[in-house]
Amino acid sequence: MNRTIPVGLGTRAYDVVVGHGLLDDAGTLCAPFLKRGRTAVVSDATVWGLHGARLTAALAAAGIESHPVVVPPGEQTKSWEGLADVSDRLLALGLDRGDLIIAFGGGVVGDLAGFAAAIYKRGIDFIQIPTTLLAQVDSSVGGKTAIDTPHGKNLIGAFHQPRLVLADLDVLATLSAREMRAGYAEVVKYGLLGDFAFFEWLEANSAAVLARDPDALAYAVARSVEMKAEIVAEDEKEAGRRALLNLGHTFGHALEAETGYGEALLHGEAVAAGSAIAFRFSAAQGLCSGQAAERAEAAIAAAGLPTRLSQVASGAFPADALVRHMGQDKKAEGGKLTFVLARALGDTFVAKDVDAAAVRDFLVAEGALP
Ligand code: GLY
Repeated sequence: MNRTIPVGLGTRAYDVVVGHGLLDDAGTLCAPFLKRGRTAVVSDATVWGLHGARLTAALAAAGIESHPVVVPPGEQTKSWEGLADVSDRLLALGLDRGDLIIAFGGGVVGDLAGFAAAIYKRGIDFIQIPTTLLAQVDSSVGGKTAIDTPHGKNLIGAFHQPRLVLADLDVLATLSAREMRAGYAEVVKYGLLGDFAFFEWLEANSAAVLARDPDALAYAVARSVEMKAEIVAEDEKEAGRRALLNLGHTFGHALEAETGYGEALLHGEAVAAGSAIAFRFSAAQGLCSGQAAERAEAAIAAAGLPTRLSQVASGAFPADALVRHMGQDKKAEGGKLTFVLARALGDTFVAKDVDAAAVRDFLVAEGALP
């Protein structure tokens, strides 16, 4: 059974539909948002090769003319060059403001196509059809769109909400076990940041979710989206509570920066290690119990995800380099380090004034190079 989760953003409100077999219904589901019955589908070569024909057929069955804009897979596509390429191809198709773009892929495609939609002829509607677990539970919902530059990740972008998100769980069947685990890190994050009952459910059901058991997967994705929708509706532009969604991200981004944002460490893996580190740092600061930090770590480790510096790439990270990356994190304000810290499992808060020296000492105690 499908679940429809509303994102309550007034005139920009939209639904996230979570279910099985949605790709085959994509034409009927997208048609109400199209004024002229034509669309451009931005996708990457991998996703398009696996599922492009099915989506094209589903759109055609509803009388929608679709034009694929296929880009190379990988983070390097989320660049100025990638944005220029997609924008020029959309212009060549003669898409008008009344038309719509479909972002069909993982986080890279969603961020890139969403940002292209935000600026194309000063803004055109778009629909997200996320094809990775990470994109379904996080990046496709909430309207953050961006590209990377040599200065860092996601530094140029816009808030541009989609008109609809279709999270087809069947598409996850073709995802590698590693990509599933990486997406699962963002699922555990929701339990850790704000829902202890969900965290306990995940402790009992992580194997079923990772094995793509249909019911377990549907519940995990729907509950994650529900939490994200509720937080985004309250704080769309991240003036306050939305920052909780960055649990594990400040430590995680530092590790990603040190490992080169690539195959050595996937974003979800960085978030996994970052979340465990954030809980241990909270415990070291006397904010939460050591037992809570141990339980958070155990739940993350049970999913086969890294929780310690020694489990990430070479394991050799200079503490100063990590702290420097944290200072450059775009969530840093006024040179102070900002972290999401924990009072308990399912109870977190944003700390904007964390002492960099305390973080450095803690990282050395965690095994970083002094
Ligand atoms: N991925 C964090 C957010 O959407 O706010």
